[in-house]
Amino acid sequence: MKSRILNMLKEADGYVSGEKLSDELGITRSAVWKHITALRDEGYGIDSVRNRGYLLRYEPDLLSAEKISQGLDTAVVGSSVITLRTTDSTNEEIKRLARGGAANGTVVTAEEQTAGRGRFGRAWSSGNDGGLYFSFLLRPELPPSDIASITLAVGYAVCLALREQCGIDAKIKWPNDIIVGSRKLCGILTEMAAQSDRIDYVIPGIGINVNNRSFPDEIASKATSVYIETGRETDRSVLLREILKKLDEVLGNFLISLSIDDIEHFKSICATIGREVTVIRGAQKLKGTAGSITASGELIVRTENGEELTVNSGEVTVQGIY
Ligand code: BTN
Repeated sequence: MKSRILNMLKEADGYVSGEKLSDELGITRSAVWKHITALRDEGYGIDSVRNRGYLLRYEPDLLSAEKISQGLDTAVVGSSVITLRTTDSTNEEIKRLARGGAANGTVVTAEEQTAGRGRFGRAWSSGNDGGLYFSFLLRPELPPSDIASITLAVGYAVCLALREQCGIDAKIKWPNDIIVGSRKLCGILTEMAAQSDRIDYVIPGIGINVNNRSFPDEIASKATSVYIETGRETDRSVLLREILKKLDEVLGNFLISLSIDDIEHFKSICATIGREVTVIRGAQKLKGTAGSITASGELIVRTENGEELTVNSGEVTVQGIY
């Protein structure tokens, strides 16, 4: 019965109502619901919308710790890889592991997050939809002031891996969103625990739209995925392995500031440079043009009245990008 429901969802061009499924299969609506729940537990991404019915968004391709770790010869990132079906947030999961003494470089992935978080306290939609959701643990011997450049280095590494592995023109929206054209492909939330003079641990949490075929209405016009850009399914385990390698390489080379070569390369794939931006500082909104990036990762903005601002926090909105 479950596979008949699945076939009907696969063949449909859009939503299939619960009524149609129950009539055609001769079972009750609650039996339909039970089978849908079982399919979701197997990793199928099925939307259910009142008055419309069910839509198959995504078929399972579960991440495999074994495959991710195959040939992963990194020094730190990926020292241990844990793949979960569901969790509240992979950042929270790493936080719990960090408090329990987990090793530097531990990675946690989840097919689904029930409380995925974005920057500025926003929610991050992440449920069995073909996205790649993971966080990792870093225990760097650095002062808390270096967090901005760690964040920048993480975005840079992920962007390089996406360009190389998927052949897409991914760019960085400062400090570390990754976009294609004017749509968001990846978001990064970096959290840390620190003393006044040293970092205890840093948790970069990364959400990448990989095999997502469509998005919820509220983000549909602002989001894209590797699938949408290339028309191809990507093996997420292989992609994650390559991202971990790039993270290890970039973070390993990087001490307190990025090298001149890194900065120049970063600038060449940073969509924010040269664009009109608005910097929000408390109640103030300042308009200007993004000119450059400093060695510690701050954005230099020349305002309309010729003043030069060094921006290292707060929100920057870029004209023409979501
Ligand atoms: C943003 O662009 O606002 C950042 C989004 C970060 C989402 C990722 S998904 C994996 C990790 N777990 C979370 O709860 N958030 C990050």
